[in-house]
Amino acid sequence: MQGKLLVVGSLNMDLVVNVARHPQIGETILGGKFTTFPGGKGANQAVAAARMGAAVTMIGRVGQDGFGDELRARAAEDGINIQYVTVDKNEATGIALITVDALGQNTIVVASGANLALTPQDLITAKAAFANADVMITQLESPLETVSEAVSLAAQHKLKIVLNPAPAQRLDAKLLSMIDYFIPNEREAMQVVGAETLESAIDQLLAMGVKNLIITLGEKGVLVVTADGRRQIPAYPVIAIDTVAAGDAFVGAFATGLAEGMSVEQSVQLGNAAAAISVTRYGAQPSLPMRKEIKEFLGGQK
Ligand code: RIB
Repeated sequence: MQGKLLVVGSLNMDLVVNVARHPQIGETILGGKFTTFPGGKGANQAVAAARMGAAVTMIGRVGQDGFGDELRARAAEDGINIQYVTVDKNEATGIALITVDALGQNTIVVASGANLALTPQDLITAKAAFANADVMITQLESPLETVSEAVSLAAQHKLKIVLNPAPAQRLDAKLLSMIDYFIPNEREAMQVVGAETLESAIDQLLAMGVKNLIITLGEKGVLVVTADGRRQIPAYPVIAIDTVAAGDAFVGAFATGLAEGMSVEQSVQLGNAAAAISVTRYGAQPSLPMRKEIKEFLGGQK
């Protein structure tokens, strides 16, 4: 069964420099190769899902410039319906300044540009897209009032709601209680509730009404906390060269699994496989695997 996904979120052009190590504050270092890659958490998750075979519609905003044209074109090449990715005449397309070190670890600074001009009204205009989806994914690179409207429209249309709270900010119980699958990494889980430890964050998130908590732990795998209890699902061991968009690979593939009617565990396995493959490749969207590659990868795992 083909899943139907709606992604409300960001599109950025990633400006990436490879470095031996990240600079200290006030320090200048010489980097290596400079590359541009299509990115943005929303677009990455949309592409990840499309490459898993989902029918994906995206709602987002780019500027009237070369980066915006390229991002829309690349998303369309992946089969994503970009009818609701609109062009803003006043704001530039979002960009992300990224450094990737020799261990594949990154730092990312986003200049959001047109992503911050995505309004609740844009979502109301795109209401038909909500009526035609099984699962809605969103993140926090769009204005919070727009994310809240997306969640509210998705709830009205009885979609499964996935929120990846990145980059993290404090969230209230009204929003959290409407989320079916909340997917932070360890640090984000603590930041959204202002907790000092992961344990405290888990307790607070559950008390605030999160239904299924899926915490990504990088090479340690994923911690799943549901009404049935908690279990840690290990990551597939690989050698990472670039971890940019690993979380997005996970979210897009996980949501595709849900939309196809898979269990949470099966969806996590799909997400883990997509993330594992993505970290073995450079760039955000170029690193995201096709479903066929996942099948081959899982066939090769013991
Ligand atoms: O999650 C990775 C993404 O974060 C990058 O592609 C960058 O654009 C930022 O949005």
